[in-house]
Amino acid sequence: MALCMSLCVQLCCTSGWSINMSVSQVIEKHYGRSLGVWSERTAVLSENSTEEEGFSEAGQHPAVVMYWSLSVAIFSIGGMLSSFLVGFVGDLKGRVKGMLMVNVLAVAAGLLMGLCRMWQPHIMVISGRAVMGFYCGLTSGLVPMYIGEIAPKAYRGALGTLHQLAIVIGILISQVIGLDFVLGNDDMWPLLLGLSGAPAILQSFLLPLCPESPRYLYILLGKEQEARKSLHRLKGAYDPTTDLEEMRREKEEADREARVSILSLIRSSVYRQQLLVALMMHLSQQLSGINAIFYYSTAIFARAGVGQPVYATIGVGVINTIFTLVSVALVDKAGRRTLTLVGLGGMCCCAVAMTVGLRFQGEYSWMSYVSMSAIFLFVSFFEIGPGPIPWFIVAELFSQGPRPAAIALAGCCNWTSNFIIGMTFPYIQTWLDCYVFILFAVLLFGFTVFIYLRVPETKGKTFEEIAAVFHKGRKKSPKDATELQQLKTSTDA
Ligand code: GLC
Repeated sequence: MALCMSLCVQLCCTSGWSINMSVSQVIEKHYGRSLGVWSERTAVLSENSTEEEGFSEAGQHPAVVMYWSLSVAIFSIGGMLSSFLVGFVGDLKGRVKGMLMVNVLAVAAGLLMGLCRMWQPHIMVISGRAVMGFYCGLTSGLVPMYIGEIAPKAYRGALGTLHQLAIVIGILISQVIGLDFVLGNDDMWPLLLGLSGAPAILQSFLLPLCPESPRYLYILLGKEQEARKSLHRLKGAYDPTTDLEEMRREKEEADREARVSILSLIRSSVYRQQLLVALMMHLSQQLSGINAIFYYSTAIFARAGVGQPVYATIGVGVINTIFTLVSVALVDKAGRRTLTLVGLGGMCCCAVAMTVGLRFQGEYSWMSYVSMSAIFLFVSFFEIGPGPIPWFIVAELFSQGPRPAAIALAGCCNWTSNFIIGMTFPYIQTWLDCYVFILFAVLLFGFTVFIYLRVPETKGKTFEEIAAVFHKGRKKSPKDATELQQLKTSTDA
């Protein structure tokens, strides 16, 4: 019961995050227009603004474009910076209190954006997005870490995938409430932005009811009795001996290896393989081009002659959600490795199909159906594996000692690549035009080969067994032993 409850609570905050992440596209035109109107009124833009550059096409004014780009970019920059603090916040007072504390940021960000008309809207929105991005960077690490730690081994994949489910539900909600006749209009857009702080308020009331992570209590604080109580609250009346025994072994290992800082994790050759896999999984998620598809799909549907392309894009959001549910059902049976390989391989084929469709739809009208089907399939393959798995596999790949640092690095890698795609895609698209998805096809092919060669299956294994897979064939050399000792000494000091 408490387990379900804890999961639902995490889902609230993740959906708030993704609402804010994706709502920016929905409000682009209204925000741009509003900035134009406002800046015209206050004459804040350059004094040399000429009639031609003027505000009839408000969203096109260079200063407006700059403010808009900054509001988009600053969100990911906030995420990149705060992802480094995940370990610190999670360890400070525990996972649950950590999540509770950071909710203050979401509420503050929601207020800044929701009330942006009360002062200078561009400053309010840019600050709100920065604070919200900072919150999202923290929460995108804290939530998978907590879920990974409380999930029973047999359902770790399914429960980890719920994080992505919350993200896609958030995207879908933002697509629907972003429709013109709901909140996506010139009057209501600030409310739309402000609402992304609301799930954090709900979560703050519910979080105190969630048990603290037993792994945090036992392995980090050495509080066995409290860990036992937490296990009972999570799983009901059962014999926790096996779970406690597993944690005891992990604790022994953790005591030997001590806490690993981000810097020492980067330098350490002991964890190099795991770290490489973790970072590549996150890179493959972002550089697959999924967000470019979300960005581009409405244009593709419009080009293909769909009357109301925005509804087709909502259809993409629905498929996105359905296939994440499919992944929840499959991930603990088929395994992470298989689903990631099928997903990335399928996306690679779809990217090729999309390119063919876009290239020839001028000559053959039926080709537009090829590109439209390719979009739906691309998204489905993404949600089967490459979307959800990176979020939770990092917690699986590392033992308690280096886990927070690894989650922080992987999170930063995710936010940075998200930022790079967001900033460069419009230029790449102008440059490559209908061949733009070939670029993603090549990247997807490379990632598929990498996963095939380097990523082991983690399904149904304990954290200890997973670590052993990476260290198999690599006998602990005297150099490794010295390195582990150094890591321990530097942390103890
Ligand atoms: C993943 C990605 C996110 C993307 C979403 C699409 O969560 O991290 O950037 O928008 O999937 O479903």
